[in-house]
Amino acid sequence: MLKVPIAKTEFSEDDLNAIMDPLRSGWVVQGPHVADFERKWSEYTGAPHSIAVSNCTTALHLSLAACGVKAGDEVIVPSFTWIATANAVEYLGGKPVLCDVETETFNIDPSKIEKLITPRTKAIIPVHLFGLSARIDEILKIAEKHNLLVIEDAACGFGSKYNGKHVGNFGTTGCFSFHPRKAITTGEGGMIITADAELAERLRSMRDHGAAVSDHQRHTGSKPYLLPEFPYLGYNYRMTDIQASIGSSQMNRAEDIHNKRTAIADKYDRLIDSIEWLQKPFRNKQYEHGFQAYVCMFSPEEISMKNIDSVNASRNAFMDYLQQNGISTRPGTHAVHMLKYYREKYGFKNEDYPGSYISSQCSIAFPLFPTLSDEEFSYIADKIKNYKA
Ligand SMILES: Cc1ncc(COP(=O)(O)O)c(C=O)c1O
Repeated sequence: MLKVPIAKTEFSEDDLNAIMDPLRSGWVVQGPHVADFERKWSEYTGAPHSIAVSNCTTALHLSLAACGVKAGDEVIVPSFTWIATANAVEYLGGKPVLCDVETETFNIDPSKIEKLITPRTKAIIPVHLFGLSARIDEILKIAEKHNLLVIEDAACGFGSKYNGKHVGNFGTTGCFSFHPRKAITTGEGGMIITADAELAERLRSMRDHGAAVSDHQRHTGSKPYLLPEFPYLGYNYRMTDIQASIGSSQMNRAEDIHNKRTAIADKYDRLIDSIEWLQKPFRNKQYEHGFQAYVCMFSPEEISMKNIDSVNASRNAFMDYLQQNGISTRPGTHAVHMLKYYREKYGFKNEDYPGSYISSQCSIAFPLFPTLSDEEFSYIADKIKNYKA
């Protein structure tokens, strides 16, 4: 029996060599490798400014804080996303206002946003879930009409484009993750992109305790008695040079990483075309998918609130069967309104966000990583084809 994990982190010889550089130099905190990684990230995404941080959760928190979101403000976030999207709003004493998602794309449903806007609404955080751009043009129109910030949660968004433009470039900021489930990984890590030069400076300072001058600038400067000024309330959200050295090395083959993920997704698409009880991920020419994950809806019948428990039981039985055959799968992600902290704080019921409820109970992510071999793929395909849902 083969064993196929849901994701596999593999570093090239070049990555392994790259990490030795900061270790040998002795400069391991934010320094030249972070600057190099940021430069390559800007080049790849087309963003004027890139600011590396400790992870995507801190990227979201920092973006909201630097844009002035404060206690009592409301921020609209999708109800089907990793919990960090909503948590970032809670950290500031704000209220994450959940918006349901479309089961076809797993992304925020723009037609449901406007009725959630109140005088306290400050921002919308669209998530490009699993690497598919949210319907960003519709979201931007709503944001413009109501004078709201758009902070993109592009944690999964490496290689994702809308109309040829890399996600993260549509809002005031775009926030990326380098967790090992993501296409580029630094262990933990994150990146903020923005076109606003003044905001970029504020973000750079706020990731470093609000200091006006970085450690590295002081270290290499000529005036040993100078301590920096601290114009902002900042945080320690820095990325280390050790992390950035591996991120930067992976960026040398960014296109290759993206193409390999897409090629595996193409194979899954062809397979799943013939499996009528699985609905493959939404794709079209306008939306270039980044395929952070390959997530299908398990739908042997049309899913409603009436049959959701039985479809969920069948999906779980399918996942158990794959697990027993050595193949790891996962639900796509979770529905935030069903998680204890949010359920209890805001009194949510499962049915309050039916699209998210269905997505969490009936979605399934299959193994996807650049080194997934033909043999592993054929093995997965056989097991799926031989299953009777
Ligand atoms: C949609 C989304 N937002 C935010 C995050 C948080 O990213 P990080 O783990 O880098 O803090 C994740 C991580 O999985 C995510 O999937």
